[in-house]
Amino acid sequence: MDTSTSYLGLSLKNPIVVGSSGLSGTAEGVRRLAESGAGAVVLKSLFQEEIFFESEKVIRDTKKGDASVQYFDYDGRKNPIEFYGYKVREDNLNRYTTLIQESKASVDIPVIASINCFFDSIEWIAFAKELEKAGADALELNMFFPPTNFNNERKEKEALYFQIIDKVLAVVSIPVSLKITHYFTDLGPMIQKLSQTGIAGLVLFNRFFSPDFDIKKIEVVPSYLFSTPAEMALSLRWVAIMAEKVSCSLAASTGIHDGEGVIKQILAGADAVQVVSTLYKNGVKHLGTMVEDLETWMGSKGIKTIPDFKGRLSQEKSSDPAMYERAQFMKYFADKKRLPVT
Ligand SMILES: Cc1cc2nc3c(=O)[nH]c(=O)nc-3n(C[C@H](O)[C@H](O)[C@H](O)COP(=O)(O)O)c2cc1C
Repeated sequence: MDTSTSYLGLSLKNPIVVGSSGLSGTAEGVRRLAESGAGAVVLKSLFQEEIFFESEKVIRDTKKGDASVQYFDYDGRKNPIEFYGYKVREDNLNRYTTLIQESKASVDIPVIASINCFFDSIEWIAFAKELEKAGADALELNMFFPPTNFNNERKEKEALYFQIIDKVLAVVSIPVSLKITHYFTDLGPMIQKLSQTGIAGLVLFNRFFSPDFDIKKIEVVPSYLFSTPAEMALSLRWVAIMAEKVSCSLAASTGIHDGEGVIKQILAGADAVQVVSTLYKNGVKHLGTMVEDLETWMGSKGIKTIPDFKGRLSQEKSSDPAMYERAQFMKYFADKKRLPVT
């Protein structure tokens, strides 16, 4: 059985990529993931927001005139970077480039760096350049501009995605992928347009941890850090719809917890899948089980390679493309026998 695949133009021994998280926040963590069977690893993101808040704290805590805090003058431009503690930014960047270098030195699978910056920050470009220089095999832009911003027009917000991509692509030559959410008004055409920008891949979709309520204390509390397998339905549907309509690789993400999930996403048309929650829940050795389950299934179906079954159930190739549309949903539930009513 040959489980190798191509993702972002990179050769992967199998399609299971460990998504960005604390699991890949140290070189030792990355080594363990590779040893357990990962096809590639996305490093924990370098978050501009974290650097910003850390800088603010340093600035607050530092008495005026303390020489240990310098202010970063970026081409004399007026932007939030001017208020950073220069050292905090440099320390974070150095730690991240060291993570890339040490990870690269300890594994022989692709190491993908990940960045997340503020809305219209020029740091997307500065970080991208540094991470390429440090030796990352590819770059994942974790781009999420909250749909709770009521101050800017939709067109303006969407245009930013394209502007940032253009600027990043102009300064790096390694493959660049984009990890997005499904919060777009016109999701299908937006995914297609993004795929035509020159990026090497799209990750469908990022997941954000949601708040919950504690009804005893009547308080908002953090919850649902990890996904459940039921959450895979969203990306399965959209990977299947978009598989033949995009001009770049596709990775499925969110809710993929086992070999069955991996197989389904490849049948939908994914080149690779990203997994995180299942490894927190079941341990990183679960990667090996997922690869084995994929191989066993391929063997049972007489399938020799990933391209032999990739996209077989995509909307374009499936024998029932209407299944992906709402009309089919209505037809399904019009059949009273299917409804679990008593
Ligand atoms: C503890 C934890 C930390 C995460 N950190 C990051 C991160 O740094 N950058 C990022 O792009 N996504 C991050 N994610 C999101 C995951 O990469 C992934 O998109 C999400 O968990 C959905 O995949 P899953 O269902 O396999 O968990 C994190 C998720 C978890 C649970």
